[in-house]
Amino acid sequence: MTKKTVRDIEVSGKKVLIRVDFNVPMQDGKITDENRIFEALPTKKYVLENGGKAILFSHLGRVASAEDKKDATLAPVANRLSELLNQKVVFVPETRGAALESAINELRNGDILMFENTRFEDIEGKKESKNNPELGAYWASLGDVFVNDAFGTAHRAHASNAGIAANIKETVAGFLLEKEIKFIGGAVSNPKRPFVAILGGAKVSDKIEVISNLLKVADKVIIGGGMAYTFLKAQGFEIGTSLCELEKVELAKSLLEQAQGKIVLPIDFAFTSKFANEPASHVGPITEIKADEMSLDIGPKSIEMFADILKTAKTVVWNGPMGVFEMSNYAKGTIGVCDAISKLTEATTIVGGGDSAAAAIQFGYASKFTHISTGGGASLEYLEGKALPGVEIVANK
Ligand code: 3PG
Repeated sequence: MTKKTVRDIEVSGKKVLIRVDFNVPMQDGKITDENRIFEALPTKKYVLENGGKAILFSHLGRVASAEDKKDATLAPVANRLSELLNQKVVFVPETRGAALESAINELRNGDILMFENTRFEDIEGKKESKNNPELGAYWASLGDVFVNDAFGTAHRAHASNAGIAANIKETVAGFLLEKEIKFIGGAVSNPKRPFVAILGGAKVSDKIEVISNLLKVADKVIIGGGMAYTFLKAQGFEIGTSLCELEKVELAKSLLEQAQGKIVLPIDFAFTSKFANEPASHVGPITEIKADEMSLDIGPKSIEMFADILKTAKTVVWNGPMGVFEMSNYAKGTIGVCDAISKLTEATTIVGGGDSAAAAIQFGYASKFTHISTGGGASLEYLEGKALPGVEIVANK
């Protein structure tokens, strides 16, 4: 990789600003998915073991008013991090000011501090989210060097990434950002072939740019999930009451033409007349759907066909479930895809964030993939081929 990383700078004795993405799901003050915290541990360990003073910060949720602050404090995350590192994490419940500055000045080499949700600065004038220049300069002044490890936020140009970078000598990548660039960036720019992409999820409109970009670089683009029905409609099939974006049917037609055979659609489906977790009434090709029925998952023949295409792949990117996997009766397609990918020992296999990452973890396949992205929107934009501000700010080697 051509980007500088934390390995390329001196951290010993330095105040090391580390932007992480700890925007983790929480319920009643408890973290319900810790993947972003786990994945960010190596950078912290490296900085601490090498005698740096680690100063961590992140956003959490969207904070529009003082009222929102109550449920958006990073205190529980600092506690959990402290358990995982087996070391005290000094938590400063401020985003600026004398208390924060003196806590930073008291840090000794190998100490770690985390300050409060950067979006608390959004309450008056969206300072963080609008990349207020004073705020970026202020945060930059708190440290000597800047390590960006927040891939999940890389599609945003906010004060806590772009703003700091503009006011500090050099920005380098942390190990998580490095990994995301290597795997997702590598897949879209220089994949080992054959490169097979599997895309799912409800809406074509959410994935148009991803499909268009991957059609340029992938050898096959398998489409499942809710958006497959808009493509089937574009091919002239009746799809009953299945999910369909009528206004995207023409676009689906043109993507199919442009694809020249690269797009692969499912060949059988699980039909039901109710959107409920009850067994499918029948499974079969789309021509067997009744007018009052919908399909909520792909069928076994599709899974077999997809698995067969995947067998020879050297690079696989999967983004989006194949069916309504939250309902156990309609999770088979998504599990089948996880299973097929997990058997590929010669391929680089990447799950691009969001629902598919949640599914891979939930169904116990997490360790079977080469990389599960920590980005939702960021991994989608990266797969769209866009330059991400959080990656662009990192110095080149
Ligand atoms: C995410 O979870 O996608 C990132 O943390 C970005 O969050 P945002 O959409 O609130 O900017």
